[in-house]
Amino acid sequence: MDTVTTDLPKLYDEAQDFMPLFGTDYIEFYVSNSKQAAHFYKTAFGFQDLAYSGLETGLTDRESYVLVQDKIRIVLTSPLKSGTDIGKHIDAHGDGVKVVALWVPDATKAYDEAIKRGAKHYMSPVEEKDNYGKVVRSGIYTYGETVHVFVERDEYNGIFLPGYKEWKTTFNTAPVGLQYVDHMVGNVELGEMMTWCNFYKDVLGFAQIVSFDDKDISTEYTALMSKVMSNGNGRIKFPINEPADGKKKSQIEEYLDFYEGPGVQHIAVATDDIIGTVRELQSRGIEFLRVPDNYYDVLLDRVGEIDEDIAPLRELGILVDRDDEGYLLQIFTKPIEPRPTLFFEIIQRKGATSFGKGNFQALFEAIEREQELRGTL
Ligand code: FE2
Repeated sequence: MDTVTTDLPKLYDEAQDFMPLFGTDYIEFYVSNSKQAAHFYKTAFGFQDLAYSGLETGLTDRESYVLVQDKIRIVLTSPLKSGTDIGKHIDAHGDGVKVVALWVPDATKAYDEAIKRGAKHYMSPVEEKDNYGKVVRSGIYTYGETVHVFVERDEYNGIFLPGYKEWKTTFNTAPVGLQYVDHMVGNVELGEMMTWCNFYKDVLGFAQIVSFDDKDISTEYTALMSKVMSNGNGRIKFPINEPADGKKKSQIEEYLDFYEGPGVQHIAVATDDIIGTVRELQSRGIEFLRVPDNYYDVLLDRVGEIDEDIAPLRELGILVDRDDEGYLLQIFTKPIEPRPTLFFEIIQRKGATSFGKGNFQALFEAIEREQELRGTL
């Protein structure tokens, strides 16, 4: 699977990279009811049936549904009995992201390089085979109980991975225009942001691309610090957040309390028609954070000329920000599970390579209104 990317850094030389990454291979969620979650991701987010593993493929302890939309593959996994690692993960964290799988040319080398540089072992390289070829996977821990699995699949032509069979149902909805994973954000504990930025730098060869401090993104109550780490070819971008001091509990602390530790805060997925995508998602019941309407009164003063009419942006609650290279449009869903933890971002880039810093103030105020309703501010 390829991952769309823009402007590769001119000096990047893959041959010199000890950890070449082709893109995001899949994202695996541990969820309490994979069958119903699969229906939700189809109905609400427009994902399509792809593959299945479980009792019908000889597994006795878990069941997984794999869904696809353009270049995004998600895996939804639930345990089939008590006492499993998957069940314990769900008990501790609620539904959430367990695996951020990275597509690599050599999963054994990726594992050896990462371990040599200090990564914590999750899964030794394993070769899996079926009639469609061979896949090698290995894995390391990142923040909290989240892991990266390296996937080597150049000798594989099957539907997903060995052990999975094709999954087809009689109910499918149209895609909503989600194309690829733009970035995935991790929340870590106070004082740990640099630990994990250094992890990505030292263990995976990433570099920091954007930085802002708590003065940039704080309200009276909430604040956070964030740095963005990117791999050499720019296909993998991982912002890392930590809470900063505010008068009341920050949204990052709220996440850490409810997730009971660090984890993936949001998955940003790209579209090339954010108005169409968000209109469709809203019609299917996805709830988004709203900023106050007066955001749109001063929008053009802040970001200058844009191609889009303001009316549909205002109607749907889509945000705009500009950097030196262009602008971007973005919007954030409310949390998609009972705990206020994981959410999605929909993003359309029109040249901008940043992450919407200019929207943080308005967004944080919107998040605080939600926290107030939850009584967790
Ligand atoms: Fe984001």
